[in-house]
Amino acid sequence: MPGSYLVVELTNRCSLKCVHCSVAEAGHAHHASTGYLDPALFDGLIDDLVASGGGFDALILFWLGEPLLHPHFTALWRRALRAAVQHQTFGKVEVHSNGTHLGEARAQALLNAAAVPQVLHLSLDAATQPTYLAVKGIDRFALVERNVEELVRRKQATGARWPRLVFQFIVGANNHTEVGAFRARWEGLCRDLGMPVRVAAGHVPPGEDAVVFFRQLDCPTAEEQEASNALFRAEMAAQGLDLPARAAEGERVAAENRCACSGFWKSPVVSWLGELTSCTRDNLLENRIGSLRDQPFSALWWGADQAGRRQRVAGGDYAGLALCQRCFIPRSLNHSDLDEASIARQAAHDAPLLEMK
Ligand SMILES: C[S@@+](CC[C@H](N)C(=O)[O-])C[C@H]1O[C@@H](n2cnc3c(N)ncnc32)[C@H](O)[C@@H]1O
Ligand code: SF4
Repeated sequence: MPGSYLVVELTNRCSLKCVHCSVAEAGHAHHASTGYLDPALFDGLIDDLVASGGGFDALILFWLGEPLLHPHFTALWRRALRAAVQHQTFGKVEVHSNGTHLGEARAQALLNAAAVPQVLHLSLDAATQPTYLAVKGIDRFALVERNVEELVRRKQATGARWPRLVFQFIVGANNHTEVGAFRARWEGLCRDLGMPVRVAAGHVPPGEDAVVFFRQLDCPTAEEQEASNALFRAEMAAQGLDLPARAAEGERVAAENRCACSGFWKSPVVSWLGELTSCTRDNLLENRIGSLRDQPFSALWWGADQAGRRQRVAGGDYAGLALCQRCFIPRSLNHSDLDEASIARQAAHDAPLLEMK
């Protein structure tokens, strides 16, 4: 399905405490206990996808923690690449990292020439140490700057095709004055090294060149989201950067959900414990579908219960899905689109399951 992506949380532990992230929220239930995804569970998930012929446009190897902390990150990354290359299970493989743990082994696994596109978002969010500390909660600015610069230089020196590098800056009230300096820092380094680079806002454009990427902040309330969107539009305009149509128009954010949310079709999310849900916002697993420790992924995601949810949500019925009823994301910039053709195609697959129910 176009725009589909499977999210797998390698860990909910983190080396930072960004103020905009659930990691920094005192007492947040998603972080009440922490740990790492069992590599056997990941292998089982890949085996199941290969056996069932299932696949996604993208595999996203993180959720609410720092994925490079996983002790077996390199093995998991290579396993994902093999599935993509040998079985077309994923059209691309993507990871976001804060860059604190970009050591030798991880850099080596990440820099490769495998026949599958790979993207590494480096969540940096600041151009100076004081702002870094204010946004990221822990001062690892110098270390991260060093790690990232080393990776960029090494990619250029080795000629490794992957990963595509995305220098990411989430624009908020606490860092917006550094948009220009951040752009100059990473665009400048790439240009100095002769590495193709461009600057983008809102969406990462297709291609293989490096991107200095300004992204919209996801906020907890519709009011905060509107204020944040306005700041984002103003800063991007000052940089002369085009925005995707919806953000440029300044569309109002509605806290009442009447759209068919693409999550139920396109974006399964697996927590580090193997719990499956359908939205990266569902960090309390309110819409839990089941556990990969009990059933294969394919039986849950393409099974009768999820087919029933899709049928109801397609008609705008979010009964029993309280999280969705108060969500405004289906119309925000950070969300994947869902068209009628995709709904109809999946409905044709789901129909026999619903008849058997
Ligand atoms: C939760 S982090 C986990 C991966 C890794 N630790 C990192 O920071 O890149 C995943 C992505 O979500 C982004 N993120 C976190 N909180 C956000 C928010 N409130 N709005 C928009 N993006 C957010 C991060 O910048 C990162 O790109
Ligand atoms: S580095 Fe990533 S996971 Fe950690 S607190 Fe920041 S956004 Fe959250």
